[in-house]
Amino acid sequence: MTAILARVPATETQPIPLFDLKRQQTRLRHDIDRRIARVLDHGQFVLGPEVAELESELAAFAGVKHSIGVSSGRDALIMALMAMGIGAGDAVLVPAFTFSATAAVVISVGATPVFVDVDEATYNMDADAIGPAVADAKSRGLTPRAVMPVDLFGRPADYAAIKAAADAHGLPMIADAAQSFGAVSNGARVGALAPITCVSFYPTKPLGAFGDGGAILTDDDDLASAVRQIRTHGRQGDGDEAMRIGMTGRLDTIQAAILLSKLSVFKAELNRRAEIAALYASRLKGLVGLPQADDEATRSAWALYTITVPERDRVREAMGAREIGTALFYRIPLHRHPAFSGLLSGNERLDVSERLSNEVLSLPMGPDLTDEEAHLVCDALIEAR
Ligand SMILES: Cc1ncc(COP(=O)(O)O)c(C=O)c1O
Repeated sequence: MTAILARVPATETQPIPLFDLKRQQTRLRHDIDRRIARVLDHGQFVLGPEVAELESELAAFAGVKHSIGVSSGRDALIMALMAMGIGAGDAVLVPAFTFSATAAVVISVGATPVFVDVDEATYNMDADAIGPAVADAKSRGLTPRAVMPVDLFGRPADYAAIKAAADAHGLPMIADAAQSFGAVSNGARVGALAPITCVSFYPTKPLGAFGDGGAILTDDDDLASAVRQIRTHGRQGDGDEAMRIGMTGRLDTIQAAILLSKLSVFKAELNRRAEIAALYASRLKGLVGLPQADDEATRSAWALYTITVPERDRVREAMGAREIGTALFYRIPLHRHPAFSGLLSGNERLDVSERLSNEVLSLPMGPDLTDEEAHLVCDALIEAR
């Protein structure tokens, strides 16, 4: 157990929620109060000094040149698409097994999401499915413009394979890293794995604010300056001219102050999440379908620990009766959402996404979950299965 995380003890009779944000708040409350008070004192609620400080810490953490604090993960993706000039008539390849925002942002800029199936073992975009999806998009008269891998549940997508497949069609990657800030792949952190990376600081994410927030990470000077304009009404610096169409897309100073506090313990929290994932894997191996474990090359941020199990709904109900919080991320693959089902060509092969959505079950996860609680989760799951 990591020493830095002083734990609030839990007993066998307490419910075990899917996420327990309260314990982290208790640990950090004093520091967070102090930082918020400082923002109230200086009064720079929009793009105050904490935003710039956080941006430079995030860039250093991820090993990239630019980090831009923005209003949410969804807005980060929209601003990345806008900065790349993607719009009407264009297609963006997205996995079919992810949160709905991944496809919704593409439609928000006037383009069309084209669904790509995922890999059974990692739940992430299957690089082999990119070629057929590009051909399908072209046959529909669309211009493929980008591939948008998602690091589902915190595990980085196979960026090397996806890049090779995307490069073959001249397509850049836009990483939807909403769930994976802090993860590592082949020695590089999320943020340095794609030309532009979009992160969410939604409260339940590995690095979570006390409200909405996000960041864009990139090494590209032009993309960074475009995003900085877009997040402030298209303006350049303090200028009053709109240089391009923009939005109100900034990270609040108070959220930046909170995130600075959380970033100071983030590495220890990532290690603790990895310990819990390893404990779950050791107890559940051979009994249920497990998410891919960390290895030399890849370290997940373990936003969620998501297994697959037959009769998932019955198992979930039995765990719920023992007050163990679980969730169905994601119960419906994107192509079956009413908002997207009209966008299909009929040529898609999305069998793995279909199967996973029927079998996945996310277990309690977080840096303040105790070993004892993780064992109770496993006991309940093993009994219910
Ligand atoms: C894969 C994915 N993309 C995008 C988003 C959107 O992020 P936000 O809620 O910060 O707008 C989320 C949030 O849950 C997500 O999980």
